[in-house]
Amino acid sequence: MRASSQAQPNIALVKYWGKRDVAGNLPDTGSISVTLDSLWTRMHVAFDAAARNDVLLVNGVEAPAMLPRVKQCINDLCGPGRPSVVVRSDCNFPIAAGLASSASSFAALVVAVCAALDRKVSPLQMARVAGRASGSAARSLFGGFVELQVEGDAIVVDSIATPEAWSLIVTVAITETGAKKMPSGAAMQLGKNTSPFYKEWVARQPRDLDAAREAIAARDFGALAAVAESNCLKMHSVTWSSRPPIVYWNAATLCCLESVRRLQDRGVPAFFTIDAGPQVKVISEREAADETMAALRATPGVVDVMQSTLGSGARLLDTGWQ
Ligand code: PMV
Repeated sequence: MRASSQAQPNIALVKYWGKRDVAGNLPDTGSISVTLDSLWTRMHVAFDAAARNDVLLVNGVEAPAMLPRVKQCINDLCGPGRPSVVVRSDCNFPIAAGLASSASSFAALVVAVCAALDRKVSPLQMARVAGRASGSAARSLFGGFVELQVEGDAIVVDSIATPEAWSLIVTVAITETGAKKMPSGAAMQLGKNTSPFYKEWVARQPRDLDAAREAIAARDFGALAAVAESNCLKMHSVTWSSRPPIVYWNAATLCCLESVRRLQDRGVPAFFTIDAGPQVKVISEREAADETMAALRATPGVVDVMQSTLGSGARLLDTGWQ
């Protein structure tokens, strides 16, 4: 009745931004991401028939505000009449700050719950349940390069290349450690309802997905950089043009973009992407990792820099309950 799991966040190179169906949390578009290795969420769940209530601890502190989403996700897996559960989530990077902590958390949660209850559930089924809690979480069930597509009223998600197939490095520049300005779900709805660019964003997404998939298959760094930067700026054009506008960036975010441009001007293979927060993620070839790290560390306003190779999907930890 107990199990421990680990999942890493993933960073979208072709982004999900907007929902076809809010209740089912079904995206309006497909997306392509890379799963990280050294940033993680570890999830420990213990079902206890004698306990009265569910409890959630995040980094050792009770987190009642986050409990309803966690409960809902567990209910989606277990159905009614389940025993109460204690969920302990530990994370080695800032949460709710645009670093995809919800992706790693819900991916890890479904893996741990299925193991604790000895449910045989396929990775795709687990991804669908995790995706109902957080759209991007579905991708963290898989490792390396991951594509999510919407087919009818369900998502289909799978790895399209392993981490070893193309050993890119992700360097994350933290420019602010507080929680993000607006949760992504609310911001997506606002964009869909008010941005004049939203329809075009959705219409052009298949072309970006094709371009990214081809670039990954060909290991064409320049082509991947071009489509990923353009896709990121299109997503942020939707948030900037929402009413009221949402600007997730801060001054240091822009300074990081400048640093990346300077690297590129020197021929360093690196490109940026930014999610629903002010952090800047820089993807580079392995040989450019040190130079990228140094450039971001020297960028004004950057408070911390983390680096990761690409990693595997969510998995059960053999250490059990700790
Ligand atoms: O999974 P959510 O609801 O936190 O939304 C993720 C949105 C982005 O991170 C901005 C893009 C993406 O595809 O991960």
